[in-house]
Amino acid sequence: MNREEAKNKIVELKEELNQYNYEYYVLDQPTVSDAYYDQKLHELIALEEEFPEYQTSDSPTQRVGGEPLDKFEKVDHRVPMLSLGNAFNEQDLRDFDRRIREQVGDEVRYVCELKIDGLAVSLRYENGQFVQGATRGDGKTGENITQNLRTIKSIPLKIREEETIEVRGEAFMPQKSFLALNEQRKKAGEDQFANPRNAAAGSLRQLDPRIAANRNLDIFLYSVGEWEAATTSSHSEQLQYLKELGFKTNPETKTFDSIDEVIQYTEEWTIKRSELDYEIDGIVIKVDSIDLQKELGFTAKSPRWAIAFKFPAEEAVTKLHDIELSVGRTGAITPTAILEPVQVAGTTVQRASLHNEDLIIEKDIRINDTVVIKKAGDIIPEVVRVVTDERTGDEQVFRMPKTCPACDQPIEKIDGEVAWRCVNPNCPAQLKEGLIHFVSRNAMNIDGLGEKVIEQLFDHQLIHSIADLYKLQKGDLLALERMGEKSVSNLLEAIEASKENSLERLLFGLGIRFVGSKAADTLAAHFKKMDNLINASQEDIQDIPEIGEKMAQSIAAYFDQEEARELINELSELGLNMEYLGAEVEADTDSVFFDKTIVLTGKLEKLSRNEAKQQIEALGGKVTGSVSSKTDLLIAGEDAGSKLDKAKSLDIEIWNEAQMLEALEA
Ligand code: IVH
Repeated sequence: MNREEAKNKIVELKEELNQYNYEYYVLDQPTVSDAYYDQKLHELIALEEEFPEYQTSDSPTQRVGGEPLDKFEKVDHRVPMLSLGNAFNEQDLRDFDRRIREQVGDEVRYVCELKIDGLAVSLRYENGQFVQGATRGDGKTGENITQNLRTIKSIPLKIREEETIEVRGEAFMPQKSFLALNEQRKKAGEDQFANPRNAAAGSLRQLDPRIAANRNLDIFLYSVGEWEAATTSSHSEQLQYLKELGFKTNPETKTFDSIDEVIQYTEEWTIKRSELDYEIDGIVIKVDSIDLQKELGFTAKSPRWAIAFKFPAEEAVTKLHDIELSVGRTGAITPTAILEPVQVAGTTVQRASLHNEDLIIEKDIRINDTVVIKKAGDIIPEVVRVVTDERTGDEQVFRMPKTCPACDQPIEKIDGEVAWRCVNPNCPAQLKEGLIHFVSRNAMNIDGLGEKVIEQLFDHQLIHSIADLYKLQKGDLLALERMGEKSVSNLLEAIEASKENSLERLLFGLGIRFVGSKAADTLAAHFKKMDNLINASQEDIQDIPEIGEKMAQSIAAYFDQEEARELINELSELGLNMEYLGAEVEADTDSVFFDKTIVLTGKLEKLSRNEAKQQIEALGGKVTGSVSSKTDLLIAGEDAGSKLDKAKSLDIEIWNEAQMLEALEA
């Protein structure tokens, strides 16, 4: 390909990929498969590598670029980013409406929008190119977080007109991503985020853009900041124009003529909010006409033409009876408040996380206090504050014990961390939690070993370390409650079968701090054998692009421990596989799945989707998320929906689960 051809091809690929990106992330309606997208992206990467002079910053290959920053630069907002006055009930909304009508007359229309609970940001485009993204800060000055915002795939790097415009919106973390992130952090022994808002803000305040890139953030745009060539005369037209430029706007926005309809909208969403895949904390009501907005003007802090209706707080008051301590598998000791049961947002709450000792001290939480609790992110209940007026003098100040509640060995607070830790490697509570993790689905995947059984194994002193699991005898297990011949032999078979697992499962199962299942995959694929990893230096480990310093340090420190090496030796002697089998399994070219693009949809009965995917991939098939003309086969489980319809309309071959199982076993 000559230079001219390469240049044209790069332009063509960029446009094509940006369009797919838009369909996927903004419209949520992909038209091509992931495999096809990847193929085009790789074509573009290769061309840009060969002809770097044609690489531009709006290329989809350039979302995560640049080195970590030392600090964020300040950004002055030429049009201030204001906040809104609040309305807490119907009366407040009627007062707002009355004030407006008194000032500008009766011809008012309102736009109602969901108030997204995230982080307000401003995006600046010059001649159609995304040039700067900033936080709101104090409204006058924010921080330049362009590098992080570029990683949000629903933010276009180039818009559809060569417009110079600053747009504003709310960056947020969808509920699903939040739950997955916290799950991952829990497994890695890291602190969890209290709610999606904190997780989004925490991600965007990182100096290294690779962190934000992995956090699945999203954005809704809801207003225009500086825009010299403004052409619209109402807010609803502005939103429409933002959409036309390629921005993601919220689909639930509605325009109404009367405050009664506005009130009805707020009431509906007070109930329906939990159905959304993102958090909202209220409804924003804006006067539609820009002329009227100008006429109404501003108070010192906020516009008179808009107001935020805040949902009633999901809080409750109750009594804190006790503070219980639990020891996690990394030894972290977490205090939990034991509460007088109380209803909050539709469920009964009797325990609330207190996170760590610092928080108890900071909030001055005492045993027997009356406390306000709320469901943070509507998920994990937490203690908001103490109602000190209710104190009677019977309250007791809580002090962290000097020893572990499970093993009575001294506990330590590691510099820079808030959690106290039990550092006894033989602490039974840690071992128990560690074993629960070891047998879990993404680790060694040993069926039939639930928490109850593990607890009994410890109580009967049958297990003191992971290795003991592989020494269990039939007789030992038959002595446990509710374990008959059949379940014992199934369990022993499952334990035996787990010895054959590929290295990454064992690595993840060991519960090394910060090593999640994805990192375990990367490590196993890289080092191939356990010995290679054990003997690797921190630098060797850190040389792998996906592995950061903190993780490399933790892995090296783990294998530096005598106990860890002994455990691995013992496991190896017990017959556990210590090698990576993953992608090196030769794909069977005879398999019907070989070289086929397959989509799984609906509920599968016998296998989880993930298991089916792994098995198909092991046979050389490619499993993608969306149906397109490139799909060869759709496997439809129970209650399959739109993917099944689409596959039918494209005349794609469709199998049920039984057909798939038969082919997998062939
Ligand atoms: S309009 C002058 N619309 O709520 C108008 N704000 O206190 C300024 N927010 O800082 C904002 N969703 O972070 C607007 N649909 C929406 C919003 C929204 C969330 C946030 C934003 C702002 C705060 C208002």
